Amino acid sequence: MAKRSSRFVCQSCGSVTTKWAGRCDACGEWNSIQEEQDQAGIGAGPAKTRRASGRVVPLVGLTGENKTPPRIQTSIAEFDRVTGGGLVRGSALLVGGDPGIGKSTLLIQVTAALARAGHRAVYFSGEEAIDQVRLRAERLGLADAPVALGAETSVEDILATLEAGPPPALVIVDSVQTLWTDQAESAPGTVTQVRASAQAMVRYAKNSGATVVIVGHVTKDGQIAGPRVVEHMVDAVLYFEGDGMHQFRILRSVKNRFGATDEIGVFEMTGAGLGEVPNPSAMFLGERSGSSPGAAVFAGLEGSRPLLIEIQALVAPSTLGTPRRAVVGWDSSRLSMILAVLEARCGVRFGQHDVYLNVAGGLRINEPGADMAVAAALVSSLSGVALPDNSVYFGEISLSGALRPVAQAQARLKEAHKLGFTKAFVPQSNIKDKGGDKQANDLAIHGLSELGEMVAEIAAGAGNEAPDGRAAATG
Ligand code: TYD
Ligand code: MG
Repeated sequence: MAKRSSRFVCQSCGSVTTKWAGRCDACGEWNSIQEEQDQAGIGAGPAKTRRASGRVVPLVGLTGENKTPPRIQTSIAEFDRVTGGGLVRGSALLVGGDPGIGKSTLLIQVTAALARAGHRAVYFSGEEAIDQVRLRAERLGLADAPVALGAETSVEDILATLEAGPPPALVIVDSVQTLWTDQAESAPGTVTQVRASAQAMVRYAKNSGATVVIVGHVTKDGQIAGPRVVEHMVDAVLYFEGDGMHQFRILRSVKNRFGATDEIGVFEMTGAGLGEVPNPSAMFLGERSGSSPGAAVFAGLEGSRPLLIEIQALVAPSTLGTPRRAVVGWDSSRLSMILAVLEARCGVRFGQHDVYLNVAGGLRINEPGADMAVAAALVSSLSGVALPDNSVYFGEISLSGALRPVAQAQARLKEAHKLGFTKAFVPQSNIKDKGGDKQANDLAIHGLSELGEMVAEIAAGAGNEAPDGRAAATG
């Protein structure tokens, strides 16, 4: 009889230690280390069944016959876009997100869509009872879809059920944190269980050719093993994000072996489930109220998709010794940087002012290309001069005050034109790439090389509109 020993596993990052500690050395999380039985998990098997010598496998070159992976389209276009054109047979996906964000809602809609198209789609709910899932389906108007529904958390039972029925095209397990397998001895929700259960489901996908979607909750406190430990096993990782205060949700692909990453799908949470938002720019700009000082429209890019977003700034005289800087939806250190560049290079002083910055719609922007729109909003609010309401901004600001080019300027400009904008303020170097393209249809493109030029432009805009193409003439 082999000797059983214990090991200590961080429930947040999965690192293993030989003794307990209050804080994980690997990820710095407190109180996340738990004792688990030391064993290799599913698939290791007893030593005597392991082969003593390996089998010789044929090695091949990089070129050869390429098969495009067979895909099933779900008819939910935003979902198909994120997966890279539909669900790939025999692949495993992880859909992660905060509790309550709408993962189960999205996946029951996907399951129903596939079932209606004549595919066998099986939904295992480990978190909700059958009645709850049925109630939701009823509310979403999906009750008539021929979905095969089960409430089960045992991996062995799930696999036996799947093997007994006709081969499914899609299997959903909601969620990985509730799964448990006999092959691992720790409690459900621990890293060992999550890993072993996910591994078994991934292996099922590969062997059966079904697409398996694993749902995982993202937890901050590290008490329950996060989906991070599953990410490397699956073929695609999608994160469902959004702000509980706003109705829109973004499905973002962060890993995809069969498509582009950083692709997003935009959904809207309504009373009747998640609706697709085929034109997100129109939605994010929808509530814009004319031209008031402090609002600038940023022509951004999410994945391959251009997105117009309003950036709002409020600069108000401060009564505090250290003025306030508050940011929602953007990086606060990046704001400090822009303020410093505006002060040092353009002589615009914010030292006596509180500064509030907000990205409208509850969106979060990570792109440095938003610098110029932020600067425009700040200067506009400070000076009380509204920006022309038909203009968009993009460009990265360097510490010297120079404007740096951004990727995919053409796609951004096209989107701006599509939504009726007539002016774009962009880095000069973005125009040079295109051999002096300054007027695309009726969109006037103003190339700027220094932040100071934009500040001057805004100051000149007080009262009279700057004539089209004036700044662009400096090419
Ligand atoms: P859910 O899919 O259960 O979230 P998750 O599986 O990620 O935990 O979504 C729950 C939230 O969505 C809940 O707060 C209510 C809201 N919701 C709607 O607003 N409309 C709807 O039609 C449905 C089904 C849910
Ligand atoms: Mg759920």
